[in-house]
Amino acid sequence: MAVLIKSEAEIEKMRISGMALRKVHEAVKSAVRVGATTMDLERAAVAKVEELGVQPAFLGYHGYPAVLCTSVNEEVIHGIPSERRVLKEGDVVSVDCGVIVDGYYSDAAVTHPVGKISPQVEKLLRVTEASLYAAIEKAVVGGRLFDISHAVQAMCEAEGYGVVREFVGHGIGKNMHEDPQVPNYGTEGKGPRLKAGMVLAIEPMINMGSSAVRVLDDGWTAVTVDGSVSAHFEQTVAITKSGPRILTL
Ligand code: CO
Repeated sequence: MAVLIKSEAEIEKMRISGMALRKVHEAVKSAVRVGATTMDLERAAVAKVEELGVQPAFLGYHGYPAVLCTSVNEEVIHGIPSERRVLKEGDVVSVDCGVIVDGYYSDAAVTHPVGKISPQVEKLLRVTEASLYAAIEKAVVGGRLFDISHAVQAMCEAEGYGVVREFVGHGIGKNMHEDPQVPNYGTEGKGPRLKAGMVLAIEPMINMGSSAVRVLDDGWTAVTVDGSVSAHFEQTVAITKSGPRILTL
């Protein structure tokens, strides 16, 4: 599939989708607390999705069973909400969600602290989120795709963190996953040229230890092989003549 260029009108629709998604994320954030289950977060998301009248993007996608992915601690992505997973003080939970409005997808993720977390884990969250924003700054007309990738890799590897290789960001529009793939590692100045109208979901997945991940027997949950904590931040970003525009704010 070729990289699809979106018109200004399409980007406006995607922004409306992204604004609804942010409201879902805010509702979930309010539900994050010590003693909550990841299914409590799912219920908060379901209630907000219904209130807004938007369509969840993940539910049923390749058979995925929920509106949210809720990945705790060493879980990297695609953790399935569960009544049995109780959040405790010092945990982190990565919440990933997508919605569809008027046919247009938006996709965003954030890693939340649960109660008070260790300074080391706090730094992992801070650096991972900062690497997302460093990457977004590279989402400019005339740049190269791997400038985005390199920005994440350079910032995170400088701290000794592992950059997950097996999962990547992606183009997004009328489909959740479009070309191009957006890896979180790569060589500056390389890759396809960035053009106005490209919309990318940029999503660093960063481990405190080794970059290696594996998928659990549930067929979904990706975890770090070494058991180290992982963080995930994602925004849907349009490349425009006037610079990067985050659509999921
Ligand atoms: Co994504």
